[in-house]
Amino acid sequence: MAVVTLTINDEMVSAQEGTLLLAVLREQGIEMPTLCHLDGLSERGGCRLCMVELGSGRLQASCVTPVQEGMVVNTHSERLVKYRQMILELLFAERNHVCAVCVMNGHCELQWEAAKIGMDHVRFDYLNPDLAMDASHERYALDHNRCILCTRCVRVCDEIEGAHVWDVMGRGVNSRVIIDLNQAWGSSQSCTSCGKCVQVCPTGALFDKGATVAEMEKQHNFLRWILDGREKNVWSYSAK
Ligand code: FES
Repeated sequence: MAVVTLTINDEMVSAQEGTLLLAVLREQGIEMPTLCHLDGLSERGGCRLCMVELGSGRLQASCVTPVQEGMVVNTHSERLVKYRQMILELLFAERNHVCAVCVMNGHCELQWEAAKIGMDHVRFDYLNPDLAMDASHERYALDHNRCILCTRCVRVCDEIEGAHVWDVMGRGVNSRVIIDLNQAWGSSQSCTSCGKCVQVCPTGALFDKGATVAEMEKQHNFLRWILDGREKNVWSYSAK
């Protein structure tokens, strides 16, 4: 594969043609905020936190932008930092994120990103939606109040577990993750209770029942383990 040269924050960098820009930025040690991205899952380009500024001034989500010859990229301009802070504030304003009583307090990716950018208040009116919880599953629970619609649960269930229990219903602020055809989790016949969705969820929207404030920490390393195993055909079955 051809190698391309691009300029990132005034430094010349070489990368394989077609590589996604976010991967190149991380290879270069540039810290990029992300929420919908998770190594091992397909890209969605939905949260827009990983936005970069191209030479033309155009903003692009780096997780879905392949590198190109001659590309000029700025990752932390004043404009980008402002936009990222605004995105985070809008996420907080859209649902009911009350960190003080959340199972993921201290381990939440949304909370980390807000703290990293120095967000100390929200300039927008809170929508305070009246959202339900689904605690019908025997081991896990879903709290829509803390969901940021990153769709990691949808993608891990579809791409890794192969069950496709999760989906998204509705539009805009009325979007919700749903189970099967919008039924109670506990009554789902397609859910294998593997818990992968819970582990990849960046906030406390999906959690283990019985976990209390600040008790949940999520593990993502199973993704790499499964993908490596698949690549090496560790679990292939050959009929004699
Ligand atoms: Fe790129 Fe969310 S991480 S858009």
